[in-house]
Amino acid sequence: MLALSAHHLGFEVHILSENQDDPAQQVVSHAHIGQLDDEETLENFAAKMDVTTFESEFLDSDLLSRVAKKTKAKLYPSPRIMGQLQDRLTQKTLLDKMKIPTAPWYPVATQEQAELAASELGYPLVFKKRRGGYDGYGTFVIQDGAALKDFVKAQLGREVSFIAEKWVPFRRELACIFARNVSGEIFHYPLVESLQKNSRCFWIKGPVKHPGFAAFAAKFKKLLAQSDYVGVMGVELFDTKKGLIVNELAPRVHNTGHYTMDTFTTGQFELHIKALFDQPIKNTKTNAKGFAMVNLLGAEPPHKDLQWTLDPSVRLHWYGKKEARPGRKMGHINVVDSSPDTALKTALKALKGFKI
Ligand SMILES: Nc1ncnc2c1ncn2[C@@H]1O[C@H](COP(=O)(O)OP(=O)(O)O)[C@@H](O)[C@H]1O
Ligand SMILES: [Mg+2]
Repeated sequence: MLALSAHHLGFEVHILSENQDDPAQQVVSHAHIGQLDDEETLENFAAKMDVTTFESEFLDSDLLSRVAKKTKAKLYPSPRIMGQLQDRLTQKTLLDKMKIPTAPWYPVATQEQAELAASELGYPLVFKKRRGGYDGYGTFVIQDGAALKDFVKAQLGREVSFIAEKWVPFRRELACIFARNVSGEIFHYPLVESLQKNSRCFWIKGPVKHPGFAAFAAKFKKLLAQSDYVGVMGVELFDTKKGLIVNELAPRVHNTGHYTMDTFTTGQFELHIKALFDQPIKNTKTNAKGFAMVNLLGAEPPHKDLQWTLDPSVRLHWYGKKEARPGRKMGHINVVDSSPDTALKTALKALKGFKI
């Protein structure tokens, strides 16, 4: 979707990825196949580009730093901030430093640390892998002492470190997409509500309101500015009795922002590209009173006639991933309508046409 947006803006897009089948390779004519942890491959690629960005934050940030330095490539967001956010421990430390509320947490690598976290934070207790977790992979909810023992035995001491987080009794989950360009202009799309199914996003709807959001956004802009962040960032929030708290940050385009591509004149993918090229990012607008996005989790490829028979307000985005696994994000549906709830209703109805 980034590649398609860059193409729409008139850029010649090159993709470096590991497999020819990758969705982005299917839509560009400049395909580079290579290992993303190979220094020479990255150098050769980045040296030829005007600007380089990444779609996953789980690359080796030290390696990317070296590549950027050596090739003088414009690589955004910076490997430094990507490295800081890809590790939950340093991400939480940054949030604490910026006084942005987040669930209380402890670093956990040993049995003693796990027990300390449990006695300080109580049950249920949430363990999260410091690196590489997504869509609930890497998140463990522990209900009591017996489960803690099992967790320690099965998970600790294998070079994987965790953080332990206090369970948050949230009213609902919210999210917002922020963006900052090279000169420091900052924009954010509206606040949306998201619902997770088995720890992965099932749907979002919006716009939604929260009385504390304006103050949160003002604070969050400081984090973006101080870390010299460039590009789009996804922010996941919990709406709690005590106000908004951050669940996690993603230094990239984000699933809860997929609705923007059919709702705003400039969606998150195009906005990311504009931010990298230091273009104005505030001149995007919408007339939508309501919108929704539903993920096609584990869906089979749509029947060839399906998309011509969908409700006219439904827009299908199919990613072209080769294999459908249960819960895997295979595509999504966007709907714009007169209210968030009517949009969601239409999207969920359209979902019934898919084999899941
Ligand atoms: N501390 C918590 N308290 C309650 N629920 C949580 C907590 N942390 C995560 N969750 C639930 O698990 C989901 C996935 O956790 P998250 O930290 O966002 O990991 P991922 O990177 O897999 O998205 C969240 O969207 C939320 O529904
Ligand atoms: Mg998440």
